[in-house]
Amino acid sequence: MSITVRVPAKVNVQLAVGPARPDGFHDLANVFLAVSLYDEVTATPAESLRVTCEGPDADRVPLDRTNLAARAAELLAARHGITPDVHLHIAKDIPVAGGMAGGSADGAGALLACDALWGTGASRAELLDICAELGSDVPFSLVGGAALGTGRGEHLTELPVGGTFHWVFAVADGGLSTPAVYAEFDRLAPDVPAPAVSPALLDALRAGDPAALAGALANDLQPAALSLRPSLADTLAAGTAAGALAGIVSGSGPTTAFLVKDAEAAGSVAAALVASGTCRTARTATSPAPGARVLTA
Ligand code: C5P
Repeated sequence: MSITVRVPAKVNVQLAVGPARPDGFHDLANVFLAVSLYDEVTATPAESLRVTCEGPDADRVPLDRTNLAARAAELLAARHGITPDVHLHIAKDIPVAGGMAGGSADGAGALLACDALWGTGASRAELLDICAELGSDVPFSLVGGAALGTGRGEHLTELPVGGTFHWVFAVADGGLSTPAVYAEFDRLAPDVPAPAVSPALLDALRAGDPAALAGALANDLQPAALSLRPSLADTLAAGTAAGALAGIVSGSGPTTAFLVKDAEAAGSVAAALVASGTCRTARTATSPAPGARVLTA
């Protein structure tokens, strides 16, 4: 028997970053929006814990115990006195190390798949607790939709969204290390105020109004990502020149996200971005998307 779970990518429509905390993390006001690019994690009983991966970027996915899918299986098993003898296969469609929570998606997916496979019966609260232990973005991968993340991003409040938003994601060559981007943020902006969510942004989400959301998009990590990868400025310029309502670095980057007015605009902006030669590829997607879901049992 196998269990397959589908998990969405995310974009941060607002990422307000506060000062570094004593534990090294940063307090955030992090507005997550799940988007319709998905990884699928399949859990199958095996002799021992093993991770495999397929997809265009599979060679860049670590298959050892540092993979959040493996860590999720180990944490759930340890809590329930089980040995994590499971084969976790990741069908990867979310850009790797791209600022779209692809690794976090695999952690949340593996957790839900192992819970179903082993009949662990973990409560939602326990699953969310394990997600927070795995990483700051992992709880949101489980929940999906739209949510405000506070603390280091792991404390979630679900947010209402009044319509469908259309996006184009420009996928860059290679990844960016999240710790490196936060370190660059600290170097560029050593004195920052406590992070606060934008009321205009919450209104735009609630109204499902793309023009209003475009005006409210904000990512405090963007200057740091641009400092480490100056060529992202060319990608942002190409997307807005092609008619996007707004462009922003997704999370810690280097994927850039373009909000567009409808599906037709998504197609033309994606084609223009590819033609511009400023990105490796471009993907279209919509939001909000549902969180981690079991597909087969
Ligand atoms: O929680 P996660 O493992 O995804 O975090 C990866 C790294 O990103 C952390 O080690 C830290 O350097 C940085 N980070 C941070 N503040 C946050 C979230 C992540 O500084 N709120």
